[in-house]
Amino acid sequence: MCGIVGYIGEQEACGILLNGLRELEYRGYDSAGIALLEEGRITRFRAVGKLDNLVHRVGEYQTSGPVAAIGHTRWATHGKPTEANAHPHGLTHSQVVHNGIIENYQAIREQVPGDFLSQTDTEVIVHLFESLLAEQPDGEDAVLKAFRATLNALHGAYAILLVTETRPGEVFFARQGSPLQLAQAADGVHFASSDAPMVGVCDQAVYLEDGHWGVASAEGIRLFDEQDQPAEPITAPLLATSTAAQKEGFRYFMEKEIYEQDAVVSDILTGRLTETGVRLDELPDGWLEQFTSITLCACGTSYHAALTGAYLLERLAKVPARVEIASEFRYREPVLDPTGLFVVISQSGETADTFEALKLAAAQGLDTLALCNVDNSSIVRAASHTVLLRAGIEKGVASTKAFTAQVMALWLLAVHWGQVKGVLDADTGGREIEAMRRVREAVAIQPRVHDRLHRLSKRYLHGHGFFFIGRDLFYPLALEGALKLKEISYLHAEGYPAGEMKHGPIALADAELFTIALMPRSRLYDKIKSNVEELSARDSTIIAITTEYFELADDIIQIRAYDHPMLEFFEMMVVCQLLALEIAIRLGNDVDMPRNLAKSVTVE
Ligand code: AGP
Repeated sequence: MCGIVGYIGEQEACGILLNGLRELEYRGYDSAGIALLEEGRITRFRAVGKLDNLVHRVGEYQTSGPVAAIGHTRWATHGKPTEANAHPHGLTHSQVVHNGIIENYQAIREQVPGDFLSQTDTEVIVHLFESLLAEQPDGEDAVLKAFRATLNALHGAYAILLVTETRPGEVFFARQGSPLQLAQAADGVHFASSDAPMVGVCDQAVYLEDGHWGVASAEGIRLFDEQDQPAEPITAPLLATSTAAQKEGFRYFMEKEIYEQDAVVSDILTGRLTETGVRLDELPDGWLEQFTSITLCACGTSYHAALTGAYLLERLAKVPARVEIASEFRYREPVLDPTGLFVVISQSGETADTFEALKLAAAQGLDTLALCNVDNSSIVRAASHTVLLRAGIEKGVASTKAFTAQVMALWLLAVHWGQVKGVLDADTGGREIEAMRRVREAVAIQPRVHDRLHRLSKRYLHGHGFFFIGRDLFYPLALEGALKLKEISYLHAEGYPAGEMKHGPIALADAELFTIALMPRSRLYDKIKSNVEELSARDSTIIAITTEYFELADDIIQIRAYDHPMLEFFEMMVVCQLLALEIAIRLGNDVDMPRNLAKSVTVE
């Protein structure tokens, strides 16, 4: 969602904050702002839109000497993306940046005096803080106590940084349900809502837990837990080299990430395949055998990976699998199998709904497993066990290579589980392993295909909608193909099980309805062919992704023939990703930062 940075030290702070915000801009890009506390006075800059507008607004301004500074890049939740709604929000002597949602902000607005200048939930924090500080008896810890009292009054989720002219050189911080890290480096103290801005600057980071709060200055960090007891900062090493991704000649990060998928597949398989089986060293010996079922829980693209995984787990490991959308699961009062395994899937490891679902399952006593791309993320730290996705940093808001890694991880889990449980015979197991070794080839981009999709895309920039249809494993892929297209092209697209079209959606069929038919040779080809014929008979325009010539297709995107459905799955996946990319580029959209979206959704 939003990105937060902070800095305490004597280096020029505008550059540090703006560079940090650049790393986090993918988390939100509706507006951005910074506040600099120097010699007891705060200077603030804010601008609507992408970070470049803020860079322009800051211009030549530089800090000199000791400074405590905070910055924010926003994904709007409460109030439009305007300058008045941009963070930091301030009152008379303090400024605050916040990621999350203050659920009781309306009640607080009625309770604290003063005029509110924004429509945000965040502004109440600074009003409340200044009003509680005014009531505090003087004393060394008055500001700290007022900050704590402010936190006590907030309901919801937050990562907060606050500076006040009453305490030069200090940054007050808190975490509840939204990520926040800090690090002590040679040049001062750094804060960020993901460790990316600190990589290469600091060696170690302190990953705050929910309920942690405190104050930092050049003299050190005072950290408290939920019960206001001093907490021991737990540090974890940061990578020595910067992981800041570069586009490396590609037009967009998303394009580069699509092209990286063969390398991601190699990485995720490294050390995990033997001649005949799968090793998952992250899972203790004998651990999986105790579970009688599996629940897979996630959001968005990760949910589509979960759906794919359910097919694989039932087929290969013969384990009953159910799939849950995290935002629905949380409030459904779900009845879980007490001897089942609860798996969450998340690229970022910070998705609020998925994180809460994980906590809910753990509270019911279930063992939990996270399939996650970000080590040390909230989800990784809360799960009993983790399989890291090894997809590398994913900058494009539309997830591509992380989806590949998620599906691969689930496939590995399914084969491994089938083998340790003794339900996967050696021949079938061997075929799965052989297919896994060939995924790299299936996801490697063929210039011929990319070129064809580029040319084809100009025919599909209009119409009243796209239906991606598939059956079996290709149904979740249809959902994912539709999600990719709608996220970056803003065209209406739906994913549907092909067999369901005749139960209603076929009413929409006409020449301006574009059907993207996923027609694998290896699974239910004749069935899906009939479904496509029904659509063609109603004059729908058919774009077939298939190995065969298909006379009813208006356009064919030919993939290679494979004898394993997962290889067809992965090659078709790349086609869907590239088609979405090419359509979006032709429409002139910012593919990496599509409107209204953000990379990690840390609000519910
Ligand atoms: C994918 O293209 C999306 N941007 C989105 O659906 C994403 O997959 C979802 O928000 C879940 O994120 P996570 O994997 O980080 O938990």
